[in-house]
Amino acid sequence: MQFTLSEEHEMIRKMVRDFAINEVAPTASERDEEERFDREIFDQMAELGLTGIPWPEEYGGIGSDFLAYAIAVEELSRVCASTGVTLSAHTSLAGWPIFKFGTEEQKQKYLKPMAQGKKIGAYCLTESGSGSDAGGMKTMARKEGDHYVLNGSKIFITNGGVAEIYVVFATTDPESKHKGTTAFIVESNFSGFKVGKKEKKMGIRSSPTTEIIFEDCIVPQENVLGEEGQGFKIAMMTLDGGRNGIAAQAVGIAQGALDAAVSYAKERVQFGKPIIANQGISFKLADMATNIEAARLLTYQAAWLESAGLPYGKASAMAKLFAGDTAMKVTTEAVQVFGGYGYTKEYPVERFMRDAKITQIYEGTQEIQRLVISRML
Ligand code: CAA
Repeated sequence: MQFTLSEEHEMIRKMVRDFAINEVAPTASERDEEERFDREIFDQMAELGLTGIPWPEEYGGIGSDFLAYAIAVEELSRVCASTGVTLSAHTSLAGWPIFKFGTEEQKQKYLKPMAQGKKIGAYCLTESGSGSDAGGMKTMARKEGDHYVLNGSKIFITNGGVAEIYVVFATTDPESKHKGTTAFIVESNFSGFKVGKKEKKMGIRSSPTTEIIFEDCIVPQENVLGEEGQGFKIAMMTLDGGRNGIAAQAVGIAQGALDAAVSYAKERVQFGKPIIANQGISFKLADMATNIEAARLLTYQAAWLESAGLPYGKASAMAKLFAGDTAMKVTTEAVQVFGGYGYTKEYPVERFMRDAKITQIYEGTQEIQRLVISRML
């Protein structure tokens, strides 16, 4: 066992950190304010190879691993959690199921342009009536000759409206409950595909979240992902890895908040000395740093397990649970260190605090993580 990163991982961290600081951070607060997604940032990530980190070169990726990918999401989220989740949903939620269950043709047609960053991916599972109970979905897929006709709607879709490729879960046999669920690859230009309402959110505001509507949407038979009836398993297995992407995002948000709090505590003078000289502040910072390190170790471990081909579902749920709670705790404390200034938009910590909250909710609430973990004990 060794705890140092390889040269390759250090290189990726440095490259993503430089990119995040120079290209992503300068507009992070403005994009948050304007709820504006910036495709140019995604295009720049593509140029650096970040849009296909774990996928083999034959599918347009850079042939690295899930640890490198987690490090990239962490470093992006350290300055802008919206950019972090754009990459996470694109890679873990849309790319992964196509890589794992796609046919060679599907990988060439869909995974390759996604890995190259020419197209953005999204994942459509949640519906208005089925959030935590993902198996309760109502979106229907009816077989008609050589195609399926999809009807229904999905909500809270990360990358909704900006993505061109959607991995969609629908029921092909409602009687069979989750065993009647099938996964499809749907292109945004398919007839009957519509982008619905865009959510106005507390945080990750420059990452678009929309409703996706299927109105007699025609999906060719060859766009079934995996086998008919295998959809629920594909959805769950996808989330096993996706959750570690969110853990990495949470670690990044927390680290960004700690960085800001430490430098502020060293500069801010009250009662004739920097506030870090008070144990009320320095002990807070020590606790924040310790929790972040623990969250990072859980996250890297889960990423390492996935890269090594070992079981990682429990580790990933634990990482997401601990890192999400850490991000919320650390960002709240960071605002406290900043005092009144922390509550204003003059400093980034209020944004980090708003962004942190979603890590306790999406890709399975913290309560669902506990359910997943406890079932595996
Ligand atoms: N891997 C493989 N198979 C799995 C699995 C996994 N991780 N989890 C469940 N399954 C299989 C089970 O083995 C079972 O198969 P059999 O019928 O063959 O035995 C089947 O799936 C049903 O499993 P459960 O009985 O456990 O299903 P359940 O209805 O009790 O639900 C759940 C389980 C864990 C609660 C699940 O519904 C769940 O994860 N809910 C949360 C949904 C979620 O995370 N949504 C996030 C939306 S995406 C998002 O947030 C994206 C974003 O914006 C960025």
